[in-house]
Order: sequence, then C-alpha cells, then structure tokens
Amino acid sequence: KQIVKVGLMGFGTVGTGVVRLIEAHQEDLQKQTGVSIQIKKILVQDKSKGRGIATMQRLITEDPRELLEDPEIDVIVEVIGGIQPAKDYILAALDNRKHVVTANKDLMALHGGEILQKAQEKGCDVFYEASVGGGIPILRALVEGFSSDRIKKMMGIVNGTTNYILTKMSREGADYAEVLKEAQALGYAEADPTSDVEGFDAARKMAILATLGFHVPVNLEDVSVQGISGVSKADIAYGKKLGYEVKLLGMAQRDDDAIEVSVQPTMVHTSHPLSTVNGVFNAVYVYGEAVGETMFYGPGAGELPTATAVVSDLVTVVKNMKLGVNGRGMVGPYKEKILKADSE
Ligand code: NDP
Ligand code: HSE
Repeated sequence: KQIVKVGLMGFGTVGTGVVRLIEAHQEDLQKQTGVSIQIKKILVQDKSKGRGIATMQRLITEDPRELLEDPEIDVIVEVIGGIQPAKDYILAALDNRKHVVTANKDLMALHGGEILQKAQEKGCDVFYEASVGGGIPILRALVEGFSSDRIKKMMGIVNGTTNYILTKMSREGADYAEVLKEAQALGYAEADPTSDVEGFDAARKMAILATLGFHVPVNLEDVSVQGISGVSKADIAYGKKLGYEVKLLGMAQRDDDAIEVSVQPTMVHTSHPLSTVNGVFNAVYVYGEAVGETMFYGPGAGELPTATAVVSDLVTVVKNMKLGVNGRGMVGPYKEKILKADSE
C-alpha cells in the first residue's frame, strides 16, 4: 500500500488539529511509515458551518455511511466525543475491519471492554492515547514503559479546563464563571463543561489510567468524584497563605488487596512538583515499586497538543498494518472484565 486512507469523524477542535498536523508533518510521517496518510472523508453534524480549512470542504459529509462503508478507508479517527453515536460508529467501523483511533475518554472509560473485545475479534487496532493527558504520551508509558514494574500509585492533574480555572483564580483572583467561558473559547472544555468542572472527565481519565496501570479493570462507578464548583476564591487564598495550591487531583493507589481511585480538589503543598502545574497543563505522577518516582508533564488539552496524540496513534496503526500485526500496546485487562461480567 502506498496510501493509507483515513475517515475523520469530527472536525471541531481536535479534528481540525488532526488535519493540520497530517498536512504539516506529511513528509516526516511518510519517512516513518513508508506510506502517505490521506484523509478521504470528514464527518460532521452540520455541513453548512464555516470551517477554518477551506481545502477540506469538498471532503465533508453528514452521512456516516460514506466513511463506514467505503472499502478504501482503512482507519477511522473518531473525534466527535460523547457516547452515542460515537460508540455505534466505532463498532460499525470495526465490523467493517477498519482500525480505530479515538480521543474519547467517556466512551473508553465506560465501554472500552466491549470496543477492545470487538477489535480483537476483528483483528483491528483501537488506540486512544489522546483520551488522557492531551499531548502527554502517558498511556504508552504505562502500558509499554512500565510493563516490567509494579505501579503502586498515580496522582494526576488530568483536566486542563479545571486547572486553567484554578490557576487563574489563584494567580489573578479571576472569577470562576468568566474563566470557564475563556476555557470554552480556547477549545479546552467538553461540549458539556459540567463533565470538566464536576470532575467526571478527570474520573474517566483516572479509571483509564488505573485500568492500564494496575492491570485490573476499574469501573467508573467505583471512582469517588468531587469537582471544583464548590471551590471559592477564599479557599484558594487561604491555601496559599499556608503554602498550598488547590488542584483538582486524581489519585489511584493499590495495596495488596485493594485499589482506590478518587478525584477531588486537594491542597497540594508548594514543595510538590504537582503544585507548579499551571494553566491548561496536565501532569501524572507515577510511583513504581522498582522505578520509584516519575512524572509526566505537558499540555492537557487544545488543538495541536491533542492532535499529536491522535496522529501518533495513527502512525502506530499504519506501522502495524505494514507489519501485519495488531493490538500492540493498549489492550489492557479489558477482556478479563468482559469474561468476568459474562460469568456473573
Ligand atoms: P468539538 O465539539 O470541538 O468537535 C466535535 C465535532 O464532532 C464537530 O465537528 C461536530 O460537528 C462533530 N459532531 C458532533 N456530533 C456529531 C454527530 N452526531 N455526528 C457527526 N458529527 C458530529 O469537540 P473536540 O474536538 O473538543 O473533542 C472531540 C473529542 O476529543 C472528545 O471526545 C473530547 O473529549 C476529546 N478531547 C478533546 C480535547 C480538547 O482539547 N478539545 C483534548 C483531548 C480529548 P460540527 O462541526 O458540524 O458541529
Ligand atoms: N475537557 C478536557 C480537559 C479536554 O479540559 O482536560 C482534554 O481531555
């Protein structure tokens, strides 16, 4: 194959980044994969909307069948978000033996097992690096980089929107509602920002991290969640006086027979590196029995940072296609979860 054709579902913040990145780095991508990666169709909800990239206009459709039923399309990139119709589209893509790359943490945290099982049955890849930590390659680090270790604890600032809000409230005494609007305008927030501010987005990400890091299926309903809507400027100022920054912190830890995962606003002492993670940046602290302390840091949301994770997954899919292998990397213990559910 000289050309790998991609069906892009969603042309919002992340979809636009994906198009721009493939265009800007085409030569480098080609050097790594030996093929040209081309977007063949783009699915949107409303075709009449003005788009930033005029050259793509002719590829736009509102009909998912134009992507799902096109035998020339090898890979579907899903950056619509939410559970439906994204779930049905991904399952249909796999049924039609198309590989899938997605940034959808809602879907992977809730239905990752079903999707990865189907991928395995159909001999297809599903990669979802962008679902956690935006541009930080944290899922690869957990699945590949730490495969020899036993991870005991992870702490994460994994939501860019809330970290942006808390940082502006702390540094500038800014108003919560005003900064939330800014984060929405910058493309950081979810379509319904309740997910961000009430901690659900971070909880989904922590469930994915814990599942991959601890090799045990962690259900979303087992994650205790509290968001930042109750955090006041006074709380932040009081924390600062005592030498703490308020952060929406995800925590996942395990001992010999228990796993605990939570998300809540937390006073982080200024001596800890997590206290210095500001704005839209995310960080994940990982403690492994053998490696000790590590920390991963980078932009947690936004057009191009998120697109780097999506397009890197796409490169892995293309490399796998060339090698005739699949499923390397991010399968995790999901199959075990399904088998367990079946036997209950
Ligand atoms: P946007 O809201 O900016 O874009 C969503 C796109 O999907 C739009 O192009 C929209 O079409 C299209 N769409 C929505 N509903 C449908 C539908 N029913 N059928 C077809 N197309 C549809 O979202 P983002 O780009 O911000 O996010 C996409 C995904 O990436 C989400 O899962 C999000 O959680 C995840 N993500 C986002 C990050 C970010 O920084 N924004 C970072 C990491 C992950 P139209 O343009 O016509 O409205
Ligand atoms: N809304 C999410 C955030 C996007 O603010 O972190 C990145 O997953």
